[in-house]
Amino acid sequence: MKTYKLAPSLLAADFTRLAECIGHVHRAGAHYLHLDIMDGLFVNNISFGLPVVKSIRKTTDMVFDTHLMITDPARYIGAFAEAGADIINVHYEACPDLTRTLRDIRALHKSPAVTIKPDTEAEAVFDALPEADMVLVMSVEPGFGGQRFLPHTLKTAERLANFIAVEGLHTDIEIDGGINLQNAADVLSAGVNVLVCGSSVFGADDIQAAVKDFYALFGQNQKS
Ligand code: DX5
Ligand code: ZN
Repeated sequence: MKTYKLAPSLLAADFTRLAECIGHVHRAGAHYLHLDIMDGLFVNNISFGLPVVKSIRKTTDMVFDTHLMITDPARYIGAFAEAGADIINVHYEACPDLTRTLRDIRALHKSPAVTIKPDTEAEAVFDALPEADMVLVMSVEPGFGGQRFLPHTLKTAERLANFIAVEGLHTDIEIDGGINLQNAADVLSAGVNVLVCGSSVFGADDIQAAVKDFYALFGQNQKS
């Protein structure tokens, strides 16, 4: 069975206290730190970019799960690798040559991942999956935190999980958007093993307790 992992999304953190917020999720045991990069073109919002990634890289050795919501991300994978990204997620919808971009990320000794928007069919990325360590299913329209989870994306995760099992691949399945303690068990049952959580972790009164609650739920699901 794959390891369950939590990837708190920094987008929902207090931007005046980034290092402190990162310290909380790290100490509580979160595997990844999810970094949402938006260019105002691929999505209708602008978040933060290279200088922020570079600055927080100095504060932590957490695995940086970098989600590039930018047009033609191949232009920037070298820069994000240099800034300290570990996993580089590129959108299927944004890449003119997805397989090549995933290979280029691997050639930079970074972990390639492919992301699909909520209405993109799982089948669209089947051919590229052997090149990726992880596939990310968006469970909200990318661009903003704090949106409501779209349940039809569970079917997409199930189809990906089925394909990965049949092909004998080891690709992780990540989900992003509207994840909380109420819907997390259903998401794990669909075959997802990496949960991105923005509001439900960094928006919580006690960030460390929120991370630990997710890991307790992972433990219960792993036993059953
Ligand atoms: C949305 C981002 C998400 C977002 C998740 O475009 O990709 O990572 O921060 O936030 P929540 O968990 O609040 O939906
Ligand atoms: Zn994201």
